[in-house]
Amino acid sequence: MDYNTCFNQALETIKQEDRYRVFNALERDARFPRSCTNGREVISWCGVDYLGLTQHPTLKQAFCDNLQQYGMGAGGTRNIGGTHVKHVELETRLSQLHQQQATLLFTSGYVTNQTALSTLGKLIPDLVVFSDGDNHMSIIEGIRESRCHKVIVKHNDMADLEQKLAEFPLSQPKIIVFEAVYSMSGDFAPLTQIIALAKKYHALSYADEVHATGVYGLNGGGLTEAEGVASQIDFIQGTLGKSFGLMGGYLCGSAASIDAIRLMGNGFIFTTSLPPALCATVINVLDYLKLHPEHQQYLHTLVNHLKQRLREAKLPLMPSASQIIPVWVGNPTHCKNIANTLMNEYGIYIQTINYPTVRKGEERLRISPTALHTFEQADQLVAALATLYKNCVHYST
Ligand SMILES: Cc1ncc(COP(=O)(O)O)c(C=O)c1O
Repeated sequence: MDYNTCFNQALETIKQEDRYRVFNALERDARFPRSCTNGREVISWCGVDYLGLTQHPTLKQAFCDNLQQYGMGAGGTRNIGGTHVKHVELETRLSQLHQQQATLLFTSGYVTNQTALSTLGKLIPDLVVFSDGDNHMSIIEGIRESRCHKVIVKHNDMADLEQKLAEFPLSQPKIIVFEAVYSMSGDFAPLTQIIALAKKYHALSYADEVHATGVYGLNGGGLTEAEGVASQIDFIQGTLGKSFGLMGGYLCGSAASIDAIRLMGNGFIFTTSLPPALCATVINVLDYLKLHPEHQQYLHTLVNHLKQRLREAKLPLMPSASQIIPVWVGNPTHCKNIANTLMNEYGIYIQTINYPTVRKGEERLRISPTALHTFEQADQLVAALATLYKNCVHYST
């Protein structure tokens, strides 16, 4: 067997569909969003360090101090020697942030969704999962591994959700899984309607707050905090890798549910725990955010400005409610060409979003401003996009 034939065939198919991905290695440092790639300076518009905290001098110093105090790694799995007081302290802080009884840390947001959902399927007999059609791959994989009966709900369509919930007896265990802020469209989930339907049909609710924590809520507790409904959601999942500026993931829920996942979740049990210095720094970040709402406020002002300018320039801005600003292209080749021209001629880096991240034919440019971008940089971006769309791009909305 020539194994390389399999790999080469897969690569050939991806290339033919014009979705071969090239990663631009960035020299990302304190000058962000100014970065260097392939020897040239660019402004990067596609990270998810929404509040710009990865480069914050005080927090970077805190990370160094924590590293000196606690060392590098955790030195074990949570079960065997790798539970540090800073893991426990951070879990308590995240429970408070999301108004939940308990929290469990994981090595990433992806692993959190995958482990939590697959384990819930083992814990709750005959569980039926109602999953929004735009949910992230980590949710899709978690549900697949759970082997539960899965019902896909049209994206944010509450009539469809209710109709599908009503097809099952009230006594049937159910869970509704959704993202508070959708990663690729920037939509908000209709939280109060989902909560009402969950109550009416005796279902659990599971909110992925990965793109909302830090950006929404007075304490950075996400959309559920901003809308005052955190305590009415059964599970809140988040990441430490976007607004909080580090990496890792977590799940908050009732004391019993989190304890059960702690004891049954393979993606929690059989892996080295997060570095204690990292957890200590996330605690510093949470303390910092309580005293410094200005990063969040500035980000929202910049986002409003950028959206307004994109509309004025008649660019095909998708109807996002949040800081995630997708601009429609609808074709993988055009998407690649625009991104390449932005990079090569304008020094602007926006990664193309293509299949499998979005459905084929729904390719887009996803702009994600941070609190470190300036209004001037936003105006330069709009001017570049306007020229490109006018001159060389065929797109359909
Ligand atoms: C909606 C959503 N959930 C979960 C994740 C995974 O989070 P992490 O990057 O911490 O693994 C992502 C990652 O981009 C995401 O967009």
